[in-house]
Amino acid sequence: MAVFQFSRRFSSLSSNPLRVCVVGSGPAGFYTAEKMLKAHQRAQVDIIDRLPTPFGLVRSGVAPDHPETKIVVNQFSRVAQNDRCSFFGNVSLGSSISLSELRELYHVVVLSYGAESDRALVVPGEDLAGIHSAREFVWWYNGHPDCKDLALDLKSTDTAVILGQGNVALDVARILLRPTMELATTDIASHALSALEESSIRKVYLIGRRGPVQAACTAKELREVLGIKDLYIHIQEADLLKTPADEEELKNSRIQRRVYELLSKAANSGCSHPRSGQRELHFIFFRKPDRFLDSDDRSGHVTSVRLEKTMLKESDGSGKQIAVGTGQFEDLECGMVLKSIGYKSVPVDGLPFDHRKGVVPNIRGRVVTDTSGDPTQLEEGLYVAGWLKRGPTGIIATNLYCAEETVATISEDLELGVLASTSSLPKPGREGLLQLLDSRNVRVLPFSAWEKINAEEKRLGSLRSKPREKLTTWDELLKVATQ
Ligand SMILES: Cc1cc2nc3c(=O)[nH]c(=O)nc-3n(C[C@H](O)[C@H](O)[C@H](O)COP(=O)(O)OP(=O)(O)OC[C@H]3O[C@@H](n4cnc5c(N)ncnc54)[C@H](O)[C@@H]3O)c2cc1C
Ligand SMILES: NC(=O)c1ccc[n+]([C@@H]2O[C@H](COP(=O)([O-])OP(=O)(O)OC[C@H]3O[C@@H](n4cnc5c(N)ncnc54)[C@H](OP(=O)(O)O)[C@@H]3O)[C@@H](O)[C@H]2O)c1
Repeated sequence: MAVFQFSRRFSSLSSNPLRVCVVGSGPAGFYTAEKMLKAHQRAQVDIIDRLPTPFGLVRSGVAPDHPETKIVVNQFSRVAQNDRCSFFGNVSLGSSISLSELRELYHVVVLSYGAESDRALVVPGEDLAGIHSAREFVWWYNGHPDCKDLALDLKSTDTAVILGQGNVALDVARILLRPTMELATTDIASHALSALEESSIRKVYLIGRRGPVQAACTAKELREVLGIKDLYIHIQEADLLKTPADEEELKNSRIQRRVYELLSKAANSGCSHPRSGQRELHFIFFRKPDRFLDSDDRSGHVTSVRLEKTMLKESDGSGKQIAVGTGQFEDLECGMVLKSIGYKSVPVDGLPFDHRKGVVPNIRGRVVTDTSGDPTQLEEGLYVAGWLKRGPTGIIATNLYCAEETVATISEDLELGVLASTSSLPKPGREGLLQLLDSRNVRVLPFSAWEKINAEEKRLGSLRSKPREKLTTWDELLKVATQ
């Protein structure tokens, strides 16, 4: 039945459409679909996502107290509603369908499935209870169905350590420290709000292996965390001393200058000690994690992080300074650790993958079989966009330029005839995909199913003066989607 409806909707389109499948419905996927539809009137674009919900990290990464950032989903929804575009949720590349099957079904496959794992830290004690990746913590407060039941304990400690000083680390620190009354009117998951309301965490340490000149965050996000109501901020003034190499870095980067200025200002303003009960945020620079320590009774729960002091050294002629250990150690007591040292993409079967960089080897979005840069080694009809293409950095808008580049490459290949052998022959595309998934009993959820989830979340939210109350389990999502 579902197959019939989908087929009829498209039967009136071009008799030999260019069948395009985009895997992943985050910013990179939607921008790619939008550009493809615009550049090629013959194109029929299907976007698949493993979740019942679209929009990737705009839904499950962007912080709940940043509603303005999420407005971009209106633009993405218009793309999904285009007559030549379809969204199919609950379809996972790798388990519902393989890459080779998708490539058989479509002329062009664009992989934009993001980075759903974590950069490895690899220090002893990492598997102790109380240690999580920031990715999991973010998924937890944003109601991602894979992390609703994350074993988080915010009630047994007053101290959390966050490793890393990028924007994700700042988001996570802000969520832990911001008054919960201010979060209550956001779209934060209700289980997270309740846990934060009962949280005993008062002190948060943000640990950077390099100095304030190299902090990976940006000024707007730093200003926001520094501006949290009634928060004691601590930064060691000695850490703000600059070397000639630091001065050189600052000269070359406006972002770094603004971040450094904000940190200097914060170090020199405010009280020298926290008031009793006041929440605290400590910026710790020039320290790298060496190991995590268990309690004396070996309860299996983290009780402190051993940090090694670092110094900076120029790595090569690039001017980039890297942190090297000094052999001096100190322990920082804490009951929770969030590793915020970056995300990492994971390969699927049959996909060339550069394990060192954590990306798919590509030339301007065109997937190549190895990293040698030999353009003849291309994987015909296979492209990549977003974090899977560039690595896990960049804001939403970065993916617009990234998608533009990939679509320009696809257009170039079509014009040069690189895809001629496949694009002139009809491919089963959407109908073939739906038949295959149907035969495997995969419950495909079209965009209209997401619209049902969206309406229900907004209805539940309105009862609590929130923009939405997210459905946070697979069961709830599937139930509402298929009603
Ligand atoms: C915590 C956090 C907060 C952020 N906040 C901001 C912000 O405030 N402002 C800003 O501009 N940028 C922000 N960013 C950056 C921005 O979110 C990213 O640049 C952007 O989302 C990357 O887009 P993407 O499409 O490559 O990946 P994603 O957004 O991760 O999308 C990938 C999609 O692929 C799907 N998928 C994964 N595996 C499969 C599979 N096997 N099969 C099918 N589908 C699959 C996922 O479900 C997901 O929908 C933030 C990033 C993080 C991590
Ligand atoms: N509001 C926003 O616009 C927003 C919000 C969230 C995220 N984002 C974007 O999303 C992207 C990802 O953010 P992110 O914070 O995950 O990554 P990031 O910006 O790359 O920051 C990673 C942090 O981890 C540190 N680190 C890496 N490896 C480490 C190790 N082995 N030991 C100790 N520290 C280590 C890095 O230090 P070094 O610098 O020394 O490597 C850096 O401080 C960024 O581009 C970010 O701007 C944007």
